[in-house]
Amino acid sequence: MKKTNKLNDYDTFVEKFKPKRTTDDCYTPPAVYEAIKGWAMKEFNIAPDRPIVRPFYPGGDFEHYNYPQGCVVIDNPPFSILAKIKRFYLERGIHFFLFAPSLTLFSSRVEELTHILTNSIITYENGAKVNTAFVTNLPSPNVFMTAPDLAQLIKEADAQRPKAELPALDFPANVITSARLNKIASLVSFEVPRTEARFVRTIGTARKGLYGGGLLISSARAAQAAQAAKTAQAAKTAQAAKTAKYELTPEEQAIVADLDKQRGILS
Ligand SMILES: C[S@@+](CC[C@H](N)C(=O)[O-])C[C@H]1O[C@@H](n2cnc3c(N)ncnc32)[C@H](O)[C@@H]1O
Repeated sequence: MKKTNKLNDYDTFVEKFKPKRTTDDCYTPPAVYEAIKGWAMKEFNIAPDRPIVRPFYPGGDFEHYNYPQGCVVIDNPPFSILAKIKRFYLERGIHFFLFAPSLTLFSSRVEELTHILTNSIITYENGAKVNTAFVTNLPSPNVFMTAPDLAQLIKEADAQRPKAELPALDFPANVITSARLNKIASLVSFEVPRTEARFVRTIGTARKGLYGGGLLISSARAAQAAQAAKTAQAAKTAQAAKTAKYELTPEEQAIVADLDKQRGILS
């Protein structure tokens, strides 16, 4: 019994030091936020004197936040309670333009809202990369819209982020690192016998260090490695091209026919 408590204490202790990577803890880089806010204000004709508020922050309580008259919430909320947030604002007539997870964008109150898709993978301050879309109750006739101009603005703002990545290294094909192998490991079988490999920590006259160490392999095996990389690339492309095909049921076709008729009446 005592042992279990100790373990739990230790787990709690370790947990505190783990960087949080859930979407609820994704902090928006300021340049990305400003780009999105600027686009939303223009696209939805938000008057410059309307207060823009951000009620979502650590320890925040959006249900008891002091919303100024006529304000617009433009913020990145915790995605796990997005349905509750939308309901709260819709019930109180508070305008919002919220970040939302792209994959589950059409999740609640769908037909009352406008959904904006840009296929933007935003890198948040905690390093998490999330395909992010947006949802708003600002006046618009559209239930959804794509926004290539917003995509471009986000891309430009994201590029301002200091990049932590290492410079790309161009190693000869005879050098194998685990990073290189991981690119093919789930797609292609490739083996090298011990007799055709030597462990090295550095390569070249500059004694460039190989992160995690590496192996020099024979030229014949290097040619096989290059071929394996090509096969893996082709498999990735083929995987990406695979799409499931679904047909509409007669009931769904009737809904579409109804919508077509409706459009005929309106235009
Ligand atoms: C995805 S983060 C975004 C933070 C910030 N809005 C931004 O754009 O960088 C969501 C934030 O909402 C906070 N949060 C969680 N529940 C909340 C609530 N009920 N009311 C207000 N904020 C909350 C989280 O602690 C977290 O800081």
